[in-house]
Order: sequence, then structure tokens, then C-alpha cells
Amino acid sequence: MKYSPEKNTKILSALTDQFEQFYANLDDKAVACLSPTMNEQDIPVNGVSFEKLHQLISEEVQPNLSASNGGRYWGFVTGGANPVATYADWLVTTFNQNVSKGGDSIATAIEHQTLKWICQLFDLPSSLKGVFTTGATAANLLAAVTARQYIGKHQGINVALEGMRNLDVSIFSATPHASMVKSLGMAGFGQNSWNKIDCLANSEAIDLTALEASLSSSQSPHKIVIASAATVTGTDYDDLLGVSALCKQHKAWLHVDAAFGIFERLIPDQETQSKGIEFADSITLDCHKWLNVPYDCGLFLTQHPALLKESCEVYAPYLADDDTHPAFMTLGIENSRRFRAFPVWATIMFYGKYGIATNISKNIEQAKKFANWIETSSSYELIKPCKLNVVLFKPNQNAIPLDSNACMIELNKTGKVFLTPGQWQGEPIIRAALSNWNTSNEDVDKVIHTLQLLADKKYELSEPVC
Ligand SMILES: Cc1ncc(COP(=O)(O)O)c(C=O)c1O
Repeated sequence: MKYSPEKNTKILSALTDQFEQFYANLDDKAVACLSPTMNEQDIPVNGVSFEKLHQLISEEVQPNLSASNGGRYWGFVTGGANPVATYADWLVTTFNQNVSKGGDSIATAIEHQTLKWICQLFDLPSSLKGVFTTGATAANLLAAVTARQYIGKHQGINVALEGMRNLDVSIFSATPHASMVKSLGMAGFGQNSWNKIDCLANSEAIDLTALEASLSSSQSPHKIVIASAATVTGTDYDDLLGVSALCKQHKAWLHVDAAFGIFERLIPDQETQSKGIEFADSITLDCHKWLNVPYDCGLFLTQHPALLKESCEVYAPYLADDDTHPAFMTLGIENSRRFRAFPVWATIMFYGKYGIATNISKNIEQAKKFANWIETSSSYELIKPCKLNVVLFKPNQNAIPLDSNACMIELNKTGKVFLTPGQWQGEPIIRAALSNWNTSNEDVDKVIHTLQLLADKKYELSEPVC
């Protein structure tokens, strides 16, 4: 069926209706839907009417969602979808451009512009080139395959064409994100292939002396160092000036996973903890975290785009590339993909560097306020001072006779907050990460109130809410 204005009006009005309903209820609905109800059905043979579809979504899907776009979803590192990014994301679907290669629309030019803006936003070298990815995991995978190609080049192996063969490499890291370890597995190094370097005391940041010793004693002719800026639990930054100097000395490839920690560079009047990232061979960023664009938006940057291209090259006559820039499909995992940079472009255009920095600073202040309350509360213990946007805590056993996990489950069951677990120095803890533009100071007060009610035993240890 061809384009029908009447049908589109119906769809747009349903969208407006659902959008408004969803946002109107966001503050009041349970933050996490802990027991969603799903009616399994046989495949529809004839399909349903649009009205029926709209009804099904409103009645069966929407009530079973989390409020991850709201201000009190503090699990993982979750950004909300800001309004202009949401608008741009709808347009991405409406326009439905395939950003596999240039030559048929402005979309690739906008992606290139956005990549440049990202470098300017974070004061990174303009020589970094890259590609928008589905998330930081995919960016870490690209880091692994590009480093693999680099090592291969030095050992006379074109890994992309010939496989790993007898690639001789040692990998070093202190606290790699789980997705980096997964990526090492997917890239053929193996999840257990990396050498654990000691951390500084009471920190997840790398001990430079230990790194130096390991690099010096390594028998491998080529090395990869994976650094963090920052770690997902402790928000600790490796000393990247020190790490990059050691990498230079030992001719090691340096990858920095800066998925959300990069945003710290925007805080005004403060020296960044990620100084030295400019010397990295490759960097992972995540726009669907603290830039608050919808999911499906990470970023991989490298000083070696030719190696990235060798790793992701596509050979097929019908895909031949005559663009002046390498086609994005030769720089990433997907051949075909959506116009992923557009919500980032819209966000940077609308908020500007200042507006984005304001959101970051606000979340950090809110996290510190929450951490201060925990620290002064007799019912909970703060595990370590809050430096960024993550607060680590546990119940004080004298006040709340639950272990960390059980306490977190009870807090999540209230529907007022959603928290996820972590481990600090081997001990289970509760982790609160604030990275949503939509989090208000009232949200922080509501969560504090909820923690207090649990401590005062005013919440029944209850059935999950949805
Ligand atoms: C440091 C770091 N790297 C990688 C990831 C993985 O990101 P994604 O889930 O977007 O793939 C995360 C997620 O929290 C992270 O914090």
C-alpha cells in the first residue's frame, strides 16, 4: 500500500497518545517491572487492525515496562532519552536512511560532522576517526579487532584475511569492563587471555609500577594495554599519562574504555582525570549513557582508521566504494544500519557543549547529595567517597538485618527506585548510578525517603510491584 495521509495521521495520533501517557505516568509508575506478564500467543495469520495493535500495546506492553527513562532508574549506567534526541530518533525511523555508505543522501555527512563534534566536545585530537556503534560493547569489540590487526601487521599476518594463526601477543589490564573481556573472546584472543595487573590500594585504577614490571618481563614481542576511564563500579580512572608513557616505551597498543567516564571532561573548572587519553590508539565512548540519547548508540574512535578498515572491509562488487571517506560499513560491524548519529547530532545542536555539561554536573551533585545522606545515616554504610555519578553502599546490619542483595531487592520492590548490585574489593554492595538528564533533586529526596522507610521497617517485605 502507498503512503496514505489518513493512515499516517492515525499512527501519529496513536504515537502522541502513547508518548503523553507514558511520560504522564513515568514518575508514578513502579521504576522497574519486576514480574512482567506476557501473554504468549500463536503467530497471527491474518494480522490485526491498527486499532487492535494500538490497544495491545497500550494494555499489554506499556504497563509491563520499566521507567528506565525516568529519574529514579539508577541501575547499570542508564541515560534517559532526552526530548530532542527522542524526536531525532523518531525521524531516523521516518527517514530510514541506510548509513552503510555515502553517495545517496546527506546522512553520512552528518555522521562525519557529528564525529568531529564529539572530538571537539571532549577536547580529543581531531586525528581520531571512527564509527557509531550499537553501544560500548560493540566499540570494545572493534578495539579488539583493530588491535589484533595492528599486532598482525607487525608479525606478517593479515588477521582479517588469514585468521590469528600464531599471533604472539600479551594483553594487560587492571579492571576491564565485562564487555571488554567478552570482546576479547569474540575477537579470538580468548576471554582468559589477559593478564591482570594489580590495582592501587582501595581503588580499581591500575598500579603503574605493577604494569611496568609486567610489560618489562613479558616475553611477547607485542602487547596490548586496556585502560579504564572510568571503571563501572568505583568510577576510578587509570593514570592515562603514566599508562600511555609506558605503552610508548614498550610499543604497546593502548585502548581506553571511556564509555561514560569521558563525560567528566565536561565539568568546568576542574582538571580532568582522563588526561593522557589523547595518546590512546583507540577509545570507546557511549552516547546512550550520559549523552542521554536513545539506546543503540556507542562510538569507537581510533588513530588507525586504516587498520579498522582492514578489519571490517567488505568485498563485493555491488558494494564497491567510491566515496572520498571510507564507507561506514568498512569501519564497523554492520553493513546496513540506521542513521545512528542523528540523535547525537540533534542533542549537541540543541544543548550545546554548555547544556550537556550542565546535565553532567547536575547528576554528579545529585550523586554526592545521595552519598552524603548515606554517610550520615545510621542505617546504611557508604563504601567509598562518591567521586563521580556512582554511589556504592550497603545496609548497616545493626539497623537492617539483610545482606546487600536482599536489601537491594527490597528497595527495588518498593517501585520507587531501581538499583543494581556490584562488588567492591570482593564484597557484594549496592550500586546507584545517576546518569539521567531527567533526574530531579526531588527524585533524590524520594529515594532517600524510601531508604529511610525501609530502615524504619515501614515497608512490608512485600510482593513485587509492577
Ligand atoms: C566502562 C563501560 N564499558 C562498556 C560498557 C558496555 O556498554 P553497553 O552496554 O552500551 O554495550 C559499560 C556499560 O556500563 C561501561 O560502563
